[in-house]
Amino acid sequence: MWVEKDPEKKNTYWPSEAMKERAWASDEAIYAEAAADPVAFWTARADELHWFKRWESAYEYAPHAYKWFVGGKTNLSYNSLDRHIEAGRGDHVAVIWEPEPVDEEAVKLTYKELHERVSRFANVLRGLGVEKGDRVGIYLPMIPEAVVAMQACARIGAPHSVVFSAFSPDSLRDRLVDAGAKVLITADGYYRRGKQIDLKKNADLGVTGSPVEKVVVVQRLDGSAPMEAGRDAWYHELMADASPDCPAEPMDAEDLAFLLYTSGTTGKPKGIMHTTGGYAVQAHTTAKWNYDLHEGDIFWCTADVGWITGHTYINYGPLLNGVTTLVYEGSPDAPDNGRFWAIIEKHKVTQLYTAPTAIRMFVKWGDEWPAKYDLSSLRLLGTVGEPINVDAWNWYFEVIGGGRCPVIDTWWQTETGANMVNSLPGIGPFVPTIAGRPFPGILGDILDSTGQPLGPGEGGYLAIFNPFPPALTRGIYGDPERFKAQYYAEYGPERYFTSDGARKDAAGNIRITGRVDDVMNVAGHRLATAEVESALAQNEKVSEVAVVSRPHDVKGEVPIAFVLLRGGIETSDDIRKELMATVNQVIGPTGRPDEIIFVPDVPKTRSGKIMRRVLKALVRNEPVGDLTTLQNPESVDKLKELVGHSA
Ligand code: WT7
Repeated sequence: MWVEKDPEKKNTYWPSEAMKERAWASDEAIYAEAAADPVAFWTARADELHWFKRWESAYEYAPHAYKWFVGGKTNLSYNSLDRHIEAGRGDHVAVIWEPEPVDEEAVKLTYKELHERVSRFANVLRGLGVEKGDRVGIYLPMIPEAVVAMQACARIGAPHSVVFSAFSPDSLRDRLVDAGAKVLITADGYYRRGKQIDLKKNADLGVTGSPVEKVVVVQRLDGSAPMEAGRDAWYHELMADASPDCPAEPMDAEDLAFLLYTSGTTGKPKGIMHTTGGYAVQAHTTAKWNYDLHEGDIFWCTADVGWITGHTYINYGPLLNGVTTLVYEGSPDAPDNGRFWAIIEKHKVTQLYTAPTAIRMFVKWGDEWPAKYDLSSLRLLGTVGEPINVDAWNWYFEVIGGGRCPVIDTWWQTETGANMVNSLPGIGPFVPTIAGRPFPGILGDILDSTGQPLGPGEGGYLAIFNPFPPALTRGIYGDPERFKAQYYAEYGPERYFTSDGARKDAAGNIRITGRVDDVMNVAGHRLATAEVESALAQNEKVSEVAVVSRPHDVKGEVPIAFVLLRGGIETSDDIRKELMATVNQVIGPTGRPDEIIFVPDVPKTRSGKIMRRVLKALVRNEPVGDLTTLQNPESVDKLKELVGHSA
């Protein structure tokens, strides 16, 4: 047993003696100690990694330009691979890859084997003209080469920009253009729900009109994908000719490690910049402390490599810690709804890290699926991505964790690079809907809109204070003004505005209530209402469009689109289908509205701004409130009929 029930409080658990003994932090005093001197706390953590050259100053602050480990030289790939081999752990398994088709065998790569592949591929990239500082696009499914590619980029100091493989060609192109990537690494395809998905076709479309000159293609399917002479080359052919010797490049701690595009409140995604040293330190420390990583552990983070969760807790975090990371190619319902539990039994997974939306889906599928498998290897469970409801938490804790394992609810963002707020496994408490406290060495609080700190129980906004955590983003690629406006306009340059609503209890444990901007969380995917709007607006039949989110019992939230068609165009199911196809083309399936409601008019202010507040209330069946500032209040009555609103 790793947890104990609180004898007095309902739904509250604490670490058992056994958990406290094994955990990296089990003394409450760590919080006060780290808060008294955050820079000293992170410096001690940095000393756990390898530095080619130690830093001269640990932290430097200037408005919108904070730096960690200034003057230090390190390398993410060296710390992920070479360091463990030098310590004699080269034969430990680094990656287990589970393909979706059940008749295909799992692949295991030791640290030595992964090191060799990464070194070869780093030389392949150099051979294609990639130099330190050049951005490299990665558009890969969940195959081991995704880890190889990211690590190879890190090895030579070429920042990667991973694009989620289900994103559309247009989304891929936008990101390649913004990043100025000259090389793209992709695959011919992959398996999803038993079907072969043709990724190369999308990659070809996305590359057209981008600065990409060379495309490396990993063969996952039958190799029949068309290759463009002079531009495309097969990964396995390039690898066969490459030298396995490629010493890691000493990188400046503040050199760009990678870009990852995420949704802001506008239609244009932001290229979030993460630098090398601070990111390495926080990724290593949070993976170790939060998931209680120890030698021999088999850690499974079920996110996709296309998200920050995949970057930090499939690739860098576990590998920096020298444990085994599990990569699963496919869908949780292939070949049946028991696949996750079959994988845990088969590979004896010790920690599982997944999203509330997945848990709610498993609850729907029923207890009989996990009941078929032996899940006793699990020691700890994690969740991330959105607020978790009490029922889903309890089901995860009881049915998957067998009532033995702590559930660590981790709040963080693409921008923070690594976990920020959660309970520590050796300290607790573990309470449904409560994420916990800011990680030691991270200062944050709940503020009101004027920046005043709020007391227990009072709802406000979560902010993070200077000295900022080492992995916090250093900027938005190519757009310093947007960076300042997005995160530091609200409370000034010394307090990072998270855009999340939150409150805390008397002990300082934080409950995240959700985004306060127009960013949705759809089945764990971050999406701006404005992105869906601008996608729909690309269809010439659309005159006006407004998108709002509606709560959904499995996906958390779903987009609902209100569409006004151009004059003379009749509404029909065909147009609905066509609009869905437009979204598919512009964003990909993750952006598809749950419902498209055709309307004769949308509510607007006198200055012509769409009143999304009213639409939001309508789809939630809540009172629409004051309509006196509307230009066209009569539009609301018609809308009430169309959405079946009764409040
Ligand atoms: C937004 C960031 C960072 C990992 C995946 C999402 C929401 C994230 C939690 C949590 C409640 C959460 C926030 C945040 N969120 N974790 N444990 N409890 N909400 O990364 O795509 O950058 O989205 O996800 O609203 O701002 P992302």
